[in-house]
Amino acid sequence: MIRNEELEQILETIDLQNDAPAQEPMRQYYFIKKAREIVAEESSKRGRPLTANEQTFGCQMNAKDSEKLIGILENIGFEMIDDESADLVFYNTCTVRDNANQRVYGRLGLVHSMKKKNPHKKIALCGCMMQEPTVIEKIQKSYSFVDLIFGTHNIYKFAELIVAMYSSDRMIIDIWKDTDKIVEDLPTERKFPFKSGVNIMYGCNNFCSYCIVPYVRGRERSRNPKDIIREIEKIVADGVVEVMLLGQNVNSYGKTLDEPMSFAQLLQEVEKIDGLERIRFMTSHPKDLSDELIQVMKHSKKICRHLHLPLQAGSTKILTAMNRRYTKEQYLELAHKIRREIPDISITTDIIVGFPGETAEDVNETIEVVKEVQYDNAFTFIYSKRTGTPAAAMPNPTTDEEIKENFDRLLKVVQETARNRVGRLMGEVHSALVEEQNEHDPTLVSGRLSNNTIVHFPGNTSLIGKIVDVRLVEAHGFYYIGEMT
Ligand code: 5AD
Ligand code: SF4
Repeated sequence: MIRNEELEQILETIDLQNDAPAQEPMRQYYFIKKAREIVAEESSKRGRPLTANEQTFGCQMNAKDSEKLIGILENIGFEMIDDESADLVFYNTCTVRDNANQRVYGRLGLVHSMKKKNPHKKIALCGCMMQEPTVIEKIQKSYSFVDLIFGTHNIYKFAELIVAMYSSDRMIIDIWKDTDKIVEDLPTERKFPFKSGVNIMYGCNNFCSYCIVPYVRGRERSRNPKDIIREIEKIVADGVVEVMLLGQNVNSYGKTLDEPMSFAQLLQEVEKIDGLERIRFMTSHPKDLSDELIQVMKHSKKICRHLHLPLQAGSTKILTAMNRRYTKEQYLELAHKIRREIPDISITTDIIVGFPGETAEDVNETIEVVKEVQYDNAFTFIYSKRTGTPAAAMPNPTTDEEIKENFDRLLKVVQETARNRVGRLMGEVHSALVEEQNEHDPTLVSGRLSNNTIVHFPGNTSLIGKIVDVRLVEAHGFYYIGEMT
């Protein structure tokens, strides 16, 4: 990221009469300046500021990308608004399961009718779904009113792409298969002033057989630790107290660096940053979770007492077919070790039901693991076939009804376990980072405990962004009601 004052100084030195420089990020600074001219001209034609709207689907990685895109839009003069009637709408898409794709097509239908009434309206599509060639073909054929399409590897070029879009009547498509490039020092927006996601790596090399992510996010590459630390220092100076380190598989951080470094070592560096109070991270792959990491977490004052440890399935047969590279026993041993070393930690997970060949007995094994690990929460998904993945070619004799039954059986156990588990802190005092005013009751604010559980308690908006001590007085399923001490 770059601060506004720094960027303004650089922009002053850029002469738009010259050709755009080839070197990044200078090239994007050039296009930011150029895009500002275009946006200013368009707004003076209309006698009002140009507006933009973002629609983000999918995971935290996508949410973080959207903040970067909004950062560019605001910088070049767009006013962000909450509804899709804006002059420019961008959809940052997800393709991890088919229902995410279907939602995007639904939205495109809606926005098409808006565009018919306002021909100046621009529609941009980006994100994981755009990395699939069949999707691009479909959009070209059936959604030809879309103005701009780009993927996951070139979001840093957004200013350049906006200039291209406003300079052409044709659909602009810029999709890269992969990249080893990481462009630093671009402007970005932050949704919350007090907490922020920070990318530490991009892509994934695991190739779980059901998963499309390695195909749409490319090969694993780690950000330089110095850049990560510099970014966190800057945002902490701006008021951030909690960071979430983001990567598809944070436990393999650092392997691709010129000077390799482990994730546990990176955490120790982040811990040293003065003024930073809390560190979270997402997502851990069980096969790479080291003893070193467990020890660093155990002794840390800042790393939150929460670990998201995707199980995906509890039967070793299915885990093998999924190419997860651990057995049920190895997963359980790891979970027990973590609980032994860090007793107050909460463990959450992701589980897929209905992977090809999964039987009711296999799901019973998943249920056994849920009961044994006692997850604080588990996100359960029905398997969705993704074209191009190895699992898409595997036959599945299990019927949809059987899958639904298995899913419901698992969900029931997940909910019971989570309810018991979350209630265990009743009566205790814990620190909570206050995140927002309660949506339903304005006399309450909502905060998050170190272990990621939500607590609602009486308080006003001046508390937002502060870490306060709260006594947990009532347990309600997945959250607490509390009072400040
Ligand atoms: N079908 C269903 N769920 C999936 N996930 C990833 N790929 C699929 C798929 N093809 C789930 C996994 C992952 C989470 C982000 O999404 O559980 O951890
Ligand atoms: Fe995130 Fe994966 Fe969806 Fe992309 S496909 S938005 S990486 S969950």
